[in-house]
Amino acid sequence: MKIVTIVGARPQFIKAAVVSAAFSGKAEEILVHTGQHYDRNMSDVFFEELRIPHPKYNLGVGSGTHGHQTGEMLAKIEDVLLEEKPDVVLVYGDTNSTLAGALAASKIHIPVAHVEAGLRSYNMRMPEEQNRVLTDHISRWLFCPTQTAVDNLSKEGVVDGVSVTGDVMLDSVLHFLKIARENPEKCKIFETLGITPKQYRLATLHRAETTEGGLPAVVKIFRAFEQLPQRVVIPIHPRTRGLAEQALQQEGFRNIQLIDPVGYLEMLLLTSNACQVLTDSGGLQKESWFMEVPCITLRGETEWVETLEGGWNVLSTLETEDIVQKALYTHPNPAARGKMPFGDGHASEKIVEVLVR
Ligand code: UD1
Ligand code: UDP
Repeated sequence: MKIVTIVGARPQFIKAAVVSAAFSGKAEEILVHTGQHYDRNMSDVFFEELRIPHPKYNLGVGSGTHGHQTGEMLAKIEDVLLEEKPDVVLVYGDTNSTLAGALAASKIHIPVAHVEAGLRSYNMRMPEEQNRVLTDHISRWLFCPTQTAVDNLSKEGVVDGVSVTGDVMLDSVLHFLKIARENPEKCKIFETLGITPKQYRLATLHRAETTEGGLPAVVKIFRAFEQLPQRVVIPIHPRTRGLAEQALQQEGFRNIQLIDPVGYLEMLLLTSNACQVLTDSGGLQKESWFMEVPCITLRGETEWVETLEGGWNVLSTLETEDIVQKALYTHPNPAARGKMPFGDGHASEKIVEVLVR
């Protein structure tokens, strides 16, 4: 069996690392990198550290408006698919690379497999919600991380080809956290940043809804971070870097440490040792939950509703006071962590098994 897998953005490299390893010896997989993320610390570092097979194609699409970026990917992916004639096209998550891959395949009648199917925020203004809803509706196999995702699909009449496999990000945390902890070079990150485990907070910001408020929105968030008793370390996504630097320059914040994006192994170490995570990322909310680190999600809603149970993840508006209140006075309830809703850490093998069968 021949599979073409489409990746393009940071979280997709991390998910592909575990699924591609599970394909090894069971199917021929050709990786296509759309080039959506291209900085070394947003792309190459993941392929090297996580030993992801080298993509056979890099389409070099880069940044652009939604239409330009998605359109260019669509045309270029179609060329690859016509050349490679795969049995299946595999896509991950909800980025523009996901939708372009799914649409290119579906139009020429190649069945699509969607990993992380069925997630919903019910906020159709989010580009990610548009991408995931459309991708789900043209997929032949829908691999859901949770039962909630299966139920969401069922409400939209999507039931054929749906299975609940667990979350591939749990597979990747279980596999790579151990590797990270055993790597002395990576463990130097605390010394390099001058931080002590459990005495700092970790934040990331890159969602369009966060940055579209411009400098005032970022200043409001940083004013909250400035009031927290522990230092806030922010590996800053390139989308937000300019605004974040301006905010620091304008306001002279002293409690905020902006750093370049880090590789996944260092990120796992930083997350597992933080006393709290503050983020608008989808993946990081779950990773915090897996590692039992309290999380404040700087968004109006989350797709990962299971993480809200017992206050392990709490939603906050982007208003300074709200963030401060939630960050200081949220105390998760350890007893609220019941049955694991994200699977058993073997989602990748289950996905490969279904496709190969
Ligand atoms: C994309 C996904 C988002 C995902 C995120 C993961 C879409 C619509 N959004 O958002 O769902 O959560 O990836 O990180 O697909 N840039 C660089 N270097 C890079 C990549 C980006 O400088 O290597 C800058 C460019 O200015 C670019 C901006 O970041 O315009 C945004 O990049 P883009 O890939 O369009 O969206 P993300 O915010 O990364
Ligand atoms: N991540 C990383 N380095 C960083 C920031 C994030 O390796 O500097 C990882 C993070 O641990 C998670 C993934 O990137 O696995 C999340 O990606 P992102 O927040 O960019 O996208 P989202 O999950 O919101 O789509």
